[in-house]
Amino acid sequence: MKHSQQSKNDAWFLPRPKKHKYKGGMPKYAEEWIIKEAKIILKNSNANVLNLFCGMNQQGFRVDIKNGEVNPDLQCDAHELTKHIGKRRFDIILADPPYSNEESKELYGTPKINYKKWTSEATKVLHNGGLLIVYHKYIMPNPDIKIYRVVKRIFIGTRTYHLPRVAIFFKKFGEQNTKNIYYYINKRKIKRRKK
Ligand SMILES: C[S@@+](CC[C@H](N)C(=O)[O-])C[C@H]1O[C@@H](n2cnc3c(N)ncnc32)[C@H](O)[C@@H]1O
Repeated sequence: MKHSQQSKNDAWFLPRPKKHKYKGGMPKYAEEWIIKEAKIILKNSNANVLNLFCGMNQQGFRVDIKNGEVNPDLQCDAHELTKHIGKRRFDIILADPPYSNEESKELYGTPKINYKKWTSEATKVLHNGGLLIVYHKYIMPNPDIKIYRVVKRIFIGTRTYHLPRVAIFFKKFGEQNTKNIYYYINKRKIKRRKK
């Protein structure tokens, strides 16, 4: 790896918490700054946002399986997003899912999380050239290397004795770029075989 490739990684240290006490809530400024960063990357200050697994997040079109205090614009299971969202499409998707099945059950009383399934639903409603941002405690894998490439990682610390989070920005390729990535993968395979 080249040293210059590190330029896509950033680190923030943000205060906790937001005023409300929603379980698993993002630190102060995280939602606002992540979306700001995404709009800068896209060079589009009017980019529209889907806030998936929104909890108490405020921006864009908010989707959560829960109602009540969350009060989303659309209440649905992220694994079945396309059944419910109609023709809406987005430039940016910010997703802050539960980090494990235990967390789903214990913190929110929600169904098991299937990363492949919900990311594939998200992909269908994301414009080509758009950003899928996964906010997590693990460095989550690229949902589909034929479709996405990592353009940014932001490591976010909050307080002492707490694990940092990471927001990974996956950029969705247009059709013509898909060919390029196949070319790149094949080239890498050939290089490895030659060694
Ligand atoms: C980590 S919290 C999000 C917290 C939010 N970012 C905040 O700062 O308040 C995860 C959210 O995902 C929701 N959720 C869990 N499983 C879901 C599913 N299958 N589909 C949609 N939302 C789900 C939960 O209700 C919860 O609000």
